[in-house]
Amino acid sequence: MNQAALHDLLSSKVKKKNTEDLFELRLAANLSLIKDLFFSIYNKEKDFHALLQKLTQLHKKRPAHLKEQDLARLGQGNWYQSEKLVGMQLYVDHFNKDLKGLEKKLDYFEHLGINFLHLMPITTRPKDENDGGYAVNSYTKIDPRYGTQKDLQRLTQKFRERNIYLMLDFVVNHTSDEHEWAKKAKTGNKEYQGYYYTYKDRMVPDMFEKNLPEVFPTTSPGNYTYIPEIEKWVMTVFNSYQWDLNYTNPKVFMEMLANLTALSNIGVDVVRFDALAFLWKKMGTDSQNLPEAHNIISLFRMCLQVIAPGTILLAEAIVAPRQILKYFGEGPKKGNECEVAYNASLMALLWNSIATKKTALLHKSITAVPQKPDDCTWINYIRCHDDIGLGLDNGYIQELGWNPQGHRKFLLDYYCQRTDWSPAKGLLFMYNPKTGDGRITGSAASLLGLEQGIATKNDKLIAASVAKITMLHGIILSFGGIPLIYAGDEIGTLNDYSFLKDDAKKEDNRWVNRPQQNWRLIESLENRDIPQSKVYGALKHLIVIRKNTPVFADRNNLCLHYAGNEHILLFERTSFSKDGVLVLCNFDDNPQVVDGSLLSKLNYLKDQTYHDVISGKSVTLNSGFLELDPYQLLWLKQV
Ligand code: GLC
Repeated sequence: MNQAALHDLLSSKVKKKNTEDLFELRLAANLSLIKDLFFSIYNKEKDFHALLQKLTQLHKKRPAHLKEQDLARLGQGNWYQSEKLVGMQLYVDHFNKDLKGLEKKLDYFEHLGINFLHLMPITTRPKDENDGGYAVNSYTKIDPRYGTQKDLQRLTQKFRERNIYLMLDFVVNHTSDEHEWAKKAKTGNKEYQGYYYTYKDRMVPDMFEKNLPEVFPTTSPGNYTYIPEIEKWVMTVFNSYQWDLNYTNPKVFMEMLANLTALSNIGVDVVRFDALAFLWKKMGTDSQNLPEAHNIISLFRMCLQVIAPGTILLAEAIVAPRQILKYFGEGPKKGNECEVAYNASLMALLWNSIATKKTALLHKSITAVPQKPDDCTWINYIRCHDDIGLGLDNGYIQELGWNPQGHRKFLLDYYCQRTDWSPAKGLLFMYNPKTGDGRITGSAASLLGLEQGIATKNDKLIAASVAKITMLHGIILSFGGIPLIYAGDEIGTLNDYSFLKDDAKKEDNRWVNRPQQNWRLIESLENRDIPQSKVYGALKHLIVIRKNTPVFADRNNLCLHYAGNEHILLFERTSFSKDGVLVLCNFDDNPQVVDGSLLSKLNYLKDQTYHDVISGKSVTLNSGFLELDPYQLLWLKQV
């Protein structure tokens, strides 16, 4: 039982529920965990007492209507595992100008079936380069380009009325160099210099550098930046203008807890913990995924749960599959760290399968990942605002008889226009010629051939890309977890090259996959024989089915099967009754078959008739096999 379940149980015993008494109860229930976590990092009793006082103060500040919502949520169980949730990620300004503009588009979400929104950063940031708002000047002040605090309040109110869940970022690892703490540090203020990692010479930085990888090697090499105002080096793992926060300092934790609570008090349902793998630095290590980082995250979780139990956390840990799982919490922290994590492994493996037309690596890698805790779930996605990293397991690549370096080169060649036969139009991101490492940017549609298909008026290529876009979304809609569609992908949006003309963006080609939402096109989508209409129609249809298929709720009921055909992905969403769904996808550009005897072992008997809920057609294994068209997706139910 995790702490959330314990709170639910305890509050169910209380007859007259009152938000203040329940706060005390949650505090009592979490206290020993909070204490252990706190003293695993910090060592002063007085700081611990200050934290306890802070919890009470922060709870006092929580608006009454959210306290009520917290109580209601406690009784609702794990709402984030429901099949009824379908998400979208968007940049407010690229979607429809600002927060007010977004409010005008709420019907669009309803029409498509979206009821969970991740709004990209909306707080103040430096004027020029700002990493898309991930360099924060403030954690709470809304950047005027998006509107006002009042606009956001109105919007969250509308979200609640329409049962739309809201996710916002908490950039927990760093601030911008213009944040008030950084500004004070730059004036020589020692207290605020202690909020960051600052060094008077290169001795410590050089020792760290021996083991630290580079996140942005071409635009921001190294992990330290020289600050002439104070003649010191400051740790900047991401961009040179993003200063890493020093969590060895308890004041940093306390201030950040207040910022986290303020975010939750806006009415945020899910807080996206940005770059959380980097929270703790230790010399001699790569300073990622360290046990202390997990303790800090769990400490945030346990404190926020006492203050605002209705808000849950998403781990943005784009790391190796086994490392990602740890963000759900292990040992005493199991189920007490983040409730949700990005399924970055699935995302990368899907792109691998598209390029290779084969599913063996996907099958091997996903089946090797241990079961996640029952109270946790994934965000399943194909594309987002970032690049696609090739976080594939070298051991499994080798087991398939491929050379890991050669295979990665093949993927970069395939997606980044380094062959003349690939349909993909991606760009190479952060390529390091010394190691051959690189990542991929580009919109889903451009990576899947739509851009080239349209440019060359190649109908076959266009049809294949529409089928691929649909199939990949069909997978994330049925895999188990919250499917997160990246705004624009629902209408097959192509790469946007306008970033090349903007000095603050041109060095970061992730902007190629951060397009403006094309409302002119959307208004004319209805009943048109264009690829964008087909994509939109197909996704809308799949979303309706997902929401009406209870077995798609995440109950850890995913079972990956060997399909007996290297091009086919086969998995089952199991159920105790006959309502399970068998998902089949063909990653090849030729028709492919699955042997009926294999399916019969799964109780999907030969000669039995199945219903493909997507096409509405019956499927029989008459001839002993099941045939799938290129890039076809089937969701089969027993009749
Ligand atoms: C996360 C964001 C990415 C950003 C980085 C640094 O990985 O997704 O866009 O550059 O954090 O904040």
